[in-house]
Amino acid sequence: MKLKDQVAIVTGAGRNIGEDVAKLFATEGAKIAVVDLDKARGQRTVDAIKAAGGDAELYATDVSKGADVAAMVKAVVGRFGRVDLLVNNVAISDNKTIFECTEEDWDRVMTITLKSQFLMSKYVAQQMVAQGSGGKIVNVGSTSGWQGRPRAIAYSAAKAAIANFTRALAVQLAPHNIRVNAIVPNKIGSPVGKDDFDPTRPVENMLKRAGQPLEAAKAILFLASDDSSFIIGENLFVDGGTMAMDQTGH
Ligand SMILES: NC(=O)c1ccc[n+]([C@@H]2O[C@H](COP(=O)([O-])OP(=O)(O)OC[C@H]3O[C@@H](n4cnc5c(N)ncnc54)[C@H](O)[C@@H]3O)[C@@H](O)[C@H]2O)c1
Repeated sequence: MKLKDQVAIVTGAGRNIGEDVAKLFATEGAKIAVVDLDKARGQRTVDAIKAAGGDAELYATDVSKGADVAAMVKAVVGRFGRVDLLVNNVAISDNKTIFECTEEDWDRVMTITLKSQFLMSKYVAQQMVAQGSGGKIVNVGSTSGWQGRPRAIAYSAAKAAIANFTRALAVQLAPHNIRVNAIVPNKIGSPVGKDDFDPTRPVENMLKRAGQPLEAAKAILFLASDDSSFIIGENLFVDGGTMAMDQTGH
């Protein structure tokens, strides 16, 4: 087991990528704080982990609100005794052009997608430093932060910021033995904010198929475990090669 007796907080663990991260970490021996604003979805993940013999608890916290995040981290420490791993997975997308995106849309996407990673990392890192035994943080970015997209202006900006937030956080937490990295997915399971997998969703990559949530979860496990002990401040593409290929067909 790669994460035996470690305590992991996984945000957005009620569906798709976060759900599979929580379940995979549990099979590797971690105790899981399942964080999701949608109680029904979060509870489903908790129940699945418990049914498989693991330990998990639901926290229906809005990760974009500092006071709520601070209280949740405290509650997790009360329940499990410590925090060793954090996966910053929550995001929402605007799916809008600059002309459609309102100021409110912009603020909402930035707050939930970007500021949430700052808040979660701040309060969890404080706890990890107090414990004195280090830890690992894995952020979830997106290829939308590395290319211009015709229909996602705020989300693209937030995800670009996450790439360098990850590097800055890695530099600042390395002295505390906290290793920070990110994965950069493209087209994994259902689209962000949606329940259903659409097999007709256009996919431009070398493998000519969408990714499975478990394939993203395995990359996150790699970065959260000692298998990646010499990797720090990295943005790891989990995208079927889409960023490595010429999209113009030449
Ligand atoms: N699905 C993809 O194809 C894809 C592609 C690139 C990047 N990503 C990234 O992967 C991550 C996960 O994507 P997904 O498609 O699995 O997401 P999803 O929309 O399926 O699930 C996100 C979960 O987060 C929860 N959530 C939303 N706002 C919250 C808040 N404020 N506080 C707490 N919980 C909240 C939702 O209830 C939901 O269960 C995101 O960071 C996303 O940007 C996904």
